[in-house]
Amino acid sequence: MIETKSATETINLGKRIGKLLQAGDVVALIGRLGSGKTTLTQGLARGLGVKRKDYVTSPSFTLIKEHKGRIPIYHIDLYRIDNIKEIFNLGYEEYFYGEGVAIIEWADKIRKLLPREVLIINLEIIGENRRKIELVPKGKHYQNIIKKVYG
Ligand SMILES: Nc1ncnc2c1ncn2[C@@H]1O[C@H](COP(=O)(O)OP(=O)(O)OP(=O)(O)O)[C@@H](O)[C@H]1O
Ligand SMILES: [Mg+2]
Repeated sequence: MIETKSATETINLGKRIGKLLQAGDVVALIGRLGSGKTTLTQGLARGLGVKRKDYVTSPSFTLIKEHKGRIPIYHIDLYRIDNIKEIFNLGYEEYFYGEGVAIIEWADKIRKLLPREVLIINLEIIGENRRKIELVPKGKHYQNIIKKVYG
């Protein structure tokens, strides 16, 4: 369990994790409005080599936005999704099992579609600038990543 005291701290945590991510990885972000999913994604993207000027914002209107880092980053925001069929129509497998890293906001909406091995990150608002961030690695690969994040 990690507690961040500012958006910058959350971004820095994201950077540390992002540096360790590899092609085919999937990061599932879960937390309510304003809990910091996009903020953490900005850090993940930076850690994955996305340039500062390629600003990562919420792709709410596009559902999926691709960024170029050292590997492709598929930033997926399911806020507007209310039917799991829409995800199927999206061809999600290409993003989850592809050449890049998939980062999914509101991933709780598609729990059943998530790969068996996934890095789940729960974000909770505990104060105006405080967020409780829980890293839940599913599978050895993500356990190793988390060990390095804490180490
Ligand atoms: N410790 C913190 N970590 C992350 N964000 C923080 C923190 N403290 C304050 N904030 C602020 O909280 C807001 C988080 O917004 P953000 O868009 O990242 O949330 P979100 O979970 O993606 O929301 P949405 O569900 O609308 O997509 C930002 O304005 C950010 O500056
Ligand atoms: Mg967001």
